[in-house]
Amino acid sequence: MTIGVDHIAAYIPNQYLALEDLALARNVDPNKFLVGLGNREMSIASASEDVVVLAANAGKRVLEEADVDPGDVGLLIVGTESAVDRAKPTATHVHELLRIGNACRTFDVMHACAGATYGILSAIDWLQNKKNKYALVIASDIACYGKGSPGEPTQGAGAVAILLSTNPRLMTLNEVNNYSKNVYDFWKPWDKDFPIVEGVYSSQCYLEAVKNCFKDQDIDQNAAFLYHTPYPKLIKHAHSNVVSRLNLGLDWEQHYLEKVAPFSDFSSRIGNIYTGSLWLTLANFLENCYASEGSSQHNSDRGSYQNSGCHLFSYGSGCGAVLMRGLFSREWSSMAKFLNINEVLDNRLRLTMEEYESLVDGNEIGKDYLSRSFFKFEGLQNDQRQYTRLAQVDL
Ligand code: CAA
Repeated sequence: MTIGVDHIAAYIPNQYLALEDLALARNVDPNKFLVGLGNREMSIASASEDVVVLAANAGKRVLEEADVDPGDVGLLIVGTESAVDRAKPTATHVHELLRIGNACRTFDVMHACAGATYGILSAIDWLQNKKNKYALVIASDIACYGKGSPGEPTQGAGAVAILLSTNPRLMTLNEVNNYSKNVYDFWKPWDKDFPIVEGVYSSQCYLEAVKNCFKDQDIDQNAAFLYHTPYPKLIKHAHSNVVSRLNLGLDWEQHYLEKVAPFSDFSSRIGNIYTGSLWLTLANFLENCYASEGSSQHNSDRGSYQNSGCHLFSYGSGCGAVLMRGLFSREWSSMAKFLNINEVLDNRLRLTMEEYESLVDGNEIGKDYLSRSFFKFEGLQNDQRQYTRLAQVDL
């Protein structure tokens, strides 16, 4: 029996800030953000889009496109480090908004940026004896570092929903290696509004985890290499490390340009979405492969990935890392055809700096910010979070 990803879908807020505008406002050379970090734009959530709304939108989309009845979802996990409550799971709100039946195991997983990955590994275990059921794992986060902080240009917001099943239509997924170590690289004490980040140290911890996960593994140089991407420049450093250890006499920079860089474009236009980052990179890979179908690139690109698939590296601060292997299913393109994240990104609203700062302060800006969302956070009543459906939801 094979187990893996039956379908994947993302929800990205409808507005973004261009990093050259941020650089100008912060009196920084724009190339520090564009070249030094490799980021071009960052997604900004509106005040009515919290992690529940982001997650529910991604979940709605994945179920509808896969034509899966919410009643067939027996496991719902939300991976997030931006939870809206310290006890009540984010997943309980998402469960209600998606109209998933009560006979469902529903919970959150928190492990910094690796929460959704650990959720996916649990879902794979759960599916071993649940032949006709689906597991839905949704990564949802809003990354905020504070105005003017070094992390500000790496912010992002979005959710990625991963539907898992036996005999998956998109790809099989297997765990290859794990790494864990108690470190303080990035953490969020209860009484702080923003994370505490040991920036340089966090990048060193990430690279150490890459080194340990790839060590002594069977690596296919023709596969795509998909990394958790806090900012694209870091995965360039990571890949140079991986290739030098492969000891295959490859030109690492050329290998990076072919097997890594094409799949970090969404990250560079959305920013770091924490738990969803690696899974956004997988969506980028699949969308690129689908787009190259029938083109002259087809034989060299997608053709080789059909055999070699991808290596997936997940990292969560604190820290924990997982290396996985993904291989295409035969009917992968029947699901990959639904991915249209590029189009979504091309049609977002560009915010001014004033609008961005107003949103960061929790205010609405009166623009058509929710035009693609089906759900809205309405605020608190008796300390209970209220959500509404904005349009007809067929679920
Ligand atoms: N033109 C071109 N490049 C420039 C430049 C310019 N004008 N100015 C600087 N650069 C380059 C630097 O040379 C450097 O490149 P290298 O990485 O190749 O050395 C790069 O830009 C970054 O410059 P700095 O090191 O000076 O940047 P910084 O100190 O301001 O901040 C950061 C970088 C520490 C990553 C910061 O953005 C940060 O704190 N980010 C949040 C934490 C983070 O993302 N950590 C990653 C690992 S942790 C993780 O993976 C979990 C997670 O998602 C949070």
